[in-house]
Amino acid sequence: MESTLAIIKPDAVGRRLTGRILARIEEAGFQIRAMRMVQLTRDEAEGFYAVHRGKPFFPGLTEFMSSGPAVVLVLEAPGAIGRWRELMGATDPSKAAEGTLRREYGTSIGENATHGSDAPETAAFEIGYFFRGVELARAGRLG
Ligand code: CMP
Repeated sequence: MESTLAIIKPDAVGRRLTGRILARIEEAGFQIRAMRMVQLTRDEAEGFYAVHRGKPFFPGLTEFMSSGPAVVLVLEAPGAIGRWRELMGATDPSKAAEGTLRREYGTSIGENATHGSDAPETAAFEIGYFFRGVELARAGRLG
């Protein structure tokens, strides 16, 4: 079993797409292990996306991610990291496959509706950024 961090970004929350995206997540077979709505500060967005610091899109990305509420979730499924990336589609909504969330709900490469971890190490960092172990405990165990 694998876990990944998913974010429903401020563009999608603001356009009242949260419920639809949650339904797609559950219909695709993911178990929602943890979920919270957050309004990130600029500093918190910069910390989350620290690997992108220095890239030309970093200022716009962190401004956008702190511009309104987002929903952060831990999704669990076998192969969750790859499966969630597949359901989201390519980063740029105009290049994302038909039927993917970003194709359907994203409007630009910056405002692309959802985020997902890209590897197990990233998932561990990103889950830990938003959730404490106690929030992830299930049936008396962690993991
Ligand atoms: P995300 O999966 O959240 O990871 C980093 C984000 O940076 C990415 O989705 C995009 O929304 C955003 N971004 C903005 N501009 C670019 C760009 N030119 N290339 C890659 N990512 C970009």
